Amino acid sequence: MKALATDKRAMVFGAFGQLGVEIARVLQERGFETRLHDKADVDISDTRKVDQTISEFDPSMVFNCAAYNQVDVSESEPLQAIIANGLGVRNLAISCRQNDALLVHFSTDYVFDGTANRPYTEEDTPHPLGAYAVSKYAGELYAKAYLDRVLIVRTSGVFGPAGVKTNRGNFIELMLRLEHGKQNIRVIEDHVASPTYSPLLAEKSIELAVRGEIGVFHIGGGTPISWYDYARLIFEVAGLQPSITATTSREYRTAARRPRYSALANVRMEALGIEPMPPLRIAVEHYLEHRKNYLL
Ligand SMILES: NC(=O)c1ccc[n+]([C@@H]2O[C@H](COP(=O)([O-])OP(=O)(O)OC[C@H]3O[C@@H](n4cnc5c(N)ncnc54)[C@H](OP(=O)(O)O)[C@@H]3O)[C@@H](O)[C@H]2O)c1
Repeated sequence: MKALATDKRAMVFGAFGQLGVEIARVLQERGFETRLHDKADVDISDTRKVDQTISEFDPSMVFNCAAYNQVDVSESEPLQAIIANGLGVRNLAISCRQNDALLVHFSTDYVFDGTANRPYTEEDTPHPLGAYAVSKYAGELYAKAYLDRVLIVRTSGVFGPAGVKTNRGNFIELMLRLEHGKQNIRVIEDHVASPTYSPLLAEKSIELAVRGEIGVFHIGGGTPISWYDYARLIFEVAGLQPSITATTSREYRTAARRPRYSALANVRMEALGIEPMPPLRIAVEHYLEHRKNYLL
């Protein structure tokens, strides 16, 4: 393994997504020399390109923020999900092994089936419920299959200011769009997650990587909350009063099955003395302030 303290070169894939831009920012703030790649530049499912790109730069750390995140579309197009989220991670893992780089890979709360009805810890056993979830779990397995030293960070309901402009956006942007359309907004109240603010997710993930931590870590937001209560919180902080109704997953059918309760407990991170994630309200306030920079 390269000496991380002396060899501060890091590569980011999926670098212009909600998390990727924050990872890049924090790495640069910490004095890393960075190379940033998005899909148009390097598709992580392209085995040769991935290996060529990593070998040329020879980084000490590789951050994989790239992912195929279309949970419902994955049910009709499971191949797309497994190619990006499974085989793409395999490509990165093999190349990191050959180039002696630490892989920092991001996974999801959806690896769990949600039957525990309490925040999931790193000790809990995954049981993914659909094509997207299986593909993300496959990514974890591939990473661990090829690497003894890999940091896998599972997170939940990611939102960051870059979501104003990304293809996939995020839940807050969706709520603001619906409010703008002046329609009645229906949001499910029987599913709970821990929405996670990507600037903080990036800071804490990089802190773990720099400390040399490996294995699976959970970094979910500080507040387990139903999607309905989350929507109400967003509108309250934004000072908006749309017409909003609670619904259930039984009434509001989606192609993919989702875990009913997928909040994460950040047990390993907090045991290291790293400051816990703040309450969701604080993150939403910060988000609404900073999204303005992306609207310009
Ligand atoms: N968003 C969530 O709610 C959520 C929840 C739990 C876990 N996570 C995990 O958190 C991580 C970061 O997610 P995020 O919210 O930052 O996602 P995001 O904003 O959608 O960014 C993902 C980026 O990856 C790119 N990408 C997709 N397929 C690729 C490929 N084959 N090769 C290279 N790049 C590719 C996307 O480009 P295009 O837009 O051009 O496709 C996009 O720029 C991912 O691992 C995700 O699975 C996210």
